[in-house]
Amino acid sequence: MSSQASSSHQITVIGTGFVGVVTAAVFASFGNQVYGLDVDQEKIESLKQGKVPFHEPRLSELLQEQLLKGRLHFTTDYQKAVSGSDVVMVAVGTPSAPDGTADLTYVKAACESLAPYLKNEAVVCIKSTVPPGVFAELKPLISNHTSSNFELASLPEFLREGSAVDDTLHPDRVVIGCESKQATAVLQEIHKPFKAPIVVVKPASAQMGKYSANAYLAQRITFINQIADLCEVNGADVDEVIKIIGHDKRIGSHYWYPGLGYGGSCFPKDVRELAAYSRKVGQDNNLFNKIHELNQNRIYEKLHDFENYFGGWEGKTVAVLGLSFKPHTDDLREAPSTKIIPQLLHEGAIVRGYDPMANQVAKKVLPADKNLSIVSSLPAALAGSEVVLLLIEWPELVNYDYTSLDSQINGKPRTIIDVRNQLSGSELTTAGWQYIKIGGGGNEQ
Ligand code: UGA
Repeated sequence: MSSQASSSHQITVIGTGFVGVVTAAVFASFGNQVYGLDVDQEKIESLKQGKVPFHEPRLSELLQEQLLKGRLHFTTDYQKAVSGSDVVMVAVGTPSAPDGTADLTYVKAACESLAPYLKNEAVVCIKSTVPPGVFAELKPLISNHTSSNFELASLPEFLREGSAVDDTLHPDRVVIGCESKQATAVLQEIHKPFKAPIVVVKPASAQMGKYSANAYLAQRITFINQIADLCEVNGADVDEVIKIIGHDKRIGSHYWYPGLGYGGSCFPKDVRELAAYSRKVGQDNNLFNKIHELNQNRIYEKLHDFENYFGGWEGKTVAVLGLSFKPHTDDLREAPSTKIIPQLLHEGAIVRGYDPMANQVAKKVLPADKNLSIVSSLPAALAGSEVVLLLIEWPELVNYDYTSLDSQINGKPRTIIDVRNQLSGSELTTAGWQYIKIGGGGNEQ
């Protein structure tokens, strides 16, 4: 998993959340000495022992390998982490403030804290997602606390949860937003082992590029969801529509899953931030407001639509399968389950939730309710359920043979709602189930 950098550097990564840990481990795997810093002592202690506080495929192995090789160090001490580093990356969280703008409290605190220990000619890179133009605010926060010459650069991140290690090792592109030739050269050098195209731009363009990539993907999902809704009223099947448009090379057939809308810690936040940013600069009537609004309301609208197939949720035993926001993660941030389960409980359903990886996190995040149980196996979730709601395309959930179960309960067909369009509707229908998917083509035709 590792390879050697052409010449190694000392690199600091501030913030050991998702992006920070992956970035630190990957740069260490290229032969650099890497310091990961966090203000959370408990987190640092666990990382020192090679324990990652969330589930991400291949990350623990990579972390342990690099700790053993002596290239990766974790600390809460800014002086220790920053004073010998050529490159200091800030990868702390930028949660949305109540008005939708990015809350820069942690980024600003990190800039102020790292500044006194910067070595001369160090490059400070902002990996956190921040609004364009923010360097005008960040630069003085650093320069007021150091006499060293330093450069500020934007280094946006494009990794996805669930495939973060692979995405970081093999990025589609590396983006360096930097005004200084010397600092750009250092950043180009540390990114050489990635063997990816390097796009060197102005900092504001790099920041705008990050928001644009996420907003574009989010609008693509919103677009296909709108098309899916039209298919449901006119008898078309959205999967067939995707086959047609996908052959157009300008459009492509990838990243087109319809569903209940996008979730996770990035798209909802970034679209909302771009909408807030647009309003702030006077563009009140913007596309991003609408994408956010459509995505926000979608789950509730679809839940209401589904009721028509079996006469309402009240008193129904419902198996909710897939509680994380996507497969291969135990992250529940903006996961469909976090909106759907409270709504089902409100409507009087009895809910059994199951996730291959996220059950423990789900128990902490989902409401404590006598009508909700998080169960430890898929068969336990399915037992006695009149409605099965397949939310997330985890392989275990998609590959299960639902036709092996009784297709009727109390003399009525059981219903399976496949919101990721993953199952074979014809097999389930033949077996006697009522099959519903997104965008037509279920057994209602
Ligand atoms: C996203 C981007 O894909 C990354 O490039 C970016 O670096 C990251 O945000 C970030 O800003 O940190 P991530 O949120 O991990 O990554 O996950 P995605 O796989 O992009 O999925 C996001 C949401 O869109 C999920 O709810 C997923 O179910 C949904 N989605 C995705 C669809 O509904 N349909 C699709 O075709 C694809």
